[in-house]
Amino acid sequence: QFILNFITDDRWMSLLKGLVVTLKVTFFAVILGFVLGFSVAIVRDVYENTKKLKALNFLCNVYLTVIRGTPVVVQLLIIYFVIFSSIKIDKSIAAVLAFGINSGAYQAEIFRSGINSIPKGQMEAGRSLGFSYRQTMVNIIMPQAIKNVLPTLGNEFIVLMKETSVAGYIALEDLTKAGDIIRSRTYSAMMPFLAVALLYLIMVMFFSRLLKMFERRLAGSGR
Ligand code: ARG
Repeated sequence: QFILNFITDDRWMSLLKGLVVTLKVTFFAVILGFVLGFSVAIVRDVYENTKKLKALNFLCNVYLTVIRGTPVVVQLLIIYFVIFSSIKIDKSIAAVLAFGINSGAYQAEIFRSGINSIPKGQMEAGRSLGFSYRQTMVNIIMPQAIKNVLPTLGNEFIVLMKETSVAGYIALEDLTKAGDIIRSRTYSAMMPFLAVALLYLIMVMFFSRLLKMFERRLAGSGR
């Protein structure tokens, strides 16, 4: 009976459900952030190299400045309570949008430093061999830049996973919120929050291990 209670106890269930929400939001937010961040980095690089896309480059700079200059919680609150105030959308969608847009700004910098990590001479060599800017970018710079950037991107996933713990501000039941709900219902705070912390820790350790393994395999593929 004890074991059965332990397994079917809805406190564990709600923590587990919260954990799944946390992982889902993080996963989709990182993907959205990837698309945004990559595009922004490309626009900025095109502008720097060819002076084209001036207006778009300006918009990207506004995006980066605003998103990185304001707290992610405030962005989340604005997206859910202001932008989608009259439209009913799922809280987790609002969270994915907020964290994705936020992550995009940080990922843009990651991609930018990835592109900058490739010596300038490679672009010049490509151009002087008759490749266009675009061809050099796609065939020579990008394959190396992406590889250089993968560890940092994995790190962004881990950062974002912890960052989503503020999703409770819009009453989304992620892992942290699930723990807080248990606290408010049972009047005991220590165990729920220790469990929450432990679950985050396990996930972070798991993903950083995975990342390390991945990095080690990449290290051997220089060609
Ligand atoms: N904690 C920061 C804030 O409140 C957000 C950091 C997000 N970082 C990231 N790499 N996605 O604004």
